[in-house]
Amino acid sequence: MGNVLTDEKIPNNVNLGSDKRLQRALEAWQPAFIDWWKQMGPLGWQERDIYLRTAVSVETDGWAHFDHVKMPDYRWGIFLEPKKEGRTHGFGDHYGQPVWDEVPGEFRNMMKRLIVTQGDTEPASVEQQRDLGATAPSLYDLRNLFQVNVEEGRHLWAMVYLLHTYFGRDGREEAEELLARRSGDADKPRILGAFNEPTSHWLSFFMFTMFTDRDGKYQLSALAESGFDPLARTCRFMLTEEAHHMFVGESGIQRVVKRSCELMKESSGDPRSLGGIDLPTVQKYANLWYSLSLDLFGGEVSSNAADAFASGIKGRYKEDRYDEHKLVGSHFAMDVLEGGKVVHKDVPMRNALNEVLRTEYIKDCQRGVDRWNKTIKDEGVDFQITLPSHKFHRQIGMWAGTYFTPDGQMIDAETFARRRGEWLPTAEDETYIKSLMHPVYERAKMASWIAPPNKGINGLPEDFEYVRL
Ligand SMILES: [Fe+2]
Ligand SMILES: [Fe+2]
Repeated sequence: MGNVLTDEKIPNNVNLGSDKRLQRALEAWQPAFIDWWKQMGPLGWQERDIYLRTAVSVETDGWAHFDHVKMPDYRWGIFLEPKKEGRTHGFGDHYGQPVWDEVPGEFRNMMKRLIVTQGDTEPASVEQQRDLGATAPSLYDLRNLFQVNVEEGRHLWAMVYLLHTYFGRDGREEAEELLARRSGDADKPRILGAFNEPTSHWLSFFMFTMFTDRDGKYQLSALAESGFDPLARTCRFMLTEEAHHMFVGESGIQRVVKRSCELMKESSGDPRSLGGIDLPTVQKYANLWYSLSLDLFGGEVSSNAADAFASGIKGRYKEDRYDEHKLVGSHFAMDVLEGGKVVHKDVPMRNALNEVLRTEYIKDCQRGVDRWNKTIKDEGVDFQITLPSHKFHRQIGMWAGTYFTPDGQMIDAETFARRRGEWLPTAEDETYIKSLMHPVYERAKMASWIAPPNKGINGLPEDFEYVRL
């Protein structure tokens, strides 16, 4: 484990060569993946040399190898964290028993559904982002976009490896379906809502990587606790890559608000007059992508969540921080909707686990927003970005079909419709943001609406040729 045979068709640290049947199945899926990548991956950049990080082993010093590479030649591989001998179930009904190396029959469907749902998000986001290369605000950002894209491709490989290895023919069929669905397609959409929303410009891309990739972090963290050991080990390695995606989003928006503040000062208050994005518009896009991302955690009170925990498949974020791991008889105090009213009450903990995970996610989002607000404050501007109430603009779960203001006041549908444009991007906002999206492909130059990054990639200077034109 840990050592990778890079001369193989599929780089891996799972000793793929020892299982010829599996190796052949994955080698048969590989050309379909490359076809999908060429069709649905970044439009117009496939033949360029991009300065990318490639995982070559799971060792701390080996997994981040940087070089210029053409995206279709990227070495997508299969990497699992090394197996820890003697690992036991960390939660649920099997707490303390040895973890599983195979999927127990009775949990097969539940496990497959979780893996397919996670796997589906990976190619979906590549599809959502495929046109963005045409309008990148700098070569640095262009490179970061492609880094995120190739790693989402690798995450698809990670899930397909599990499907092929542990779910037989069903798994192979699911792996094909993962390449057949299309983000936003009316007939064969991606599974989850936020992954069918267009990410049609860079402000949405940064919000997506800030908020939606962060959902990914929390889902992967919960699966990284799994008693199905190969799933846990796969997700652990994916998390190392995921961190960069959230960095792209958080630092991207930080640079947008910094620039916005600079332009406000230059223009006596109106950054739009100088080709910037005003802070109230940034707030609206945060409201949109945050609320879409909250939906990804699923229903507030959920028997599926209870089952996934009980069976040892999906745990909590950093399960070992908790003292108690069975959660029988414990409760979670949360807001619920009862008779059309918001009531704060205790819900059996196992049924509340989606909400428990969402609550951890919200805290993490708030830490990022605090850093944006520090940037605004340091610029001497009096404005704060806030996260809206978790009940605002929800389309999945208990709050779907109800209406709340961003500060959590319940309102009627009419009021929401009338005031919607104050809280969420309007068609005019979209038109304005898109009007700013002109590519900047000169080294070390930035578009008007975004500040330069604090530092380059891999310690390189800002004027490095991150993408060879
Ligand atoms: Fe991912
Ligand atoms: Fe990601």
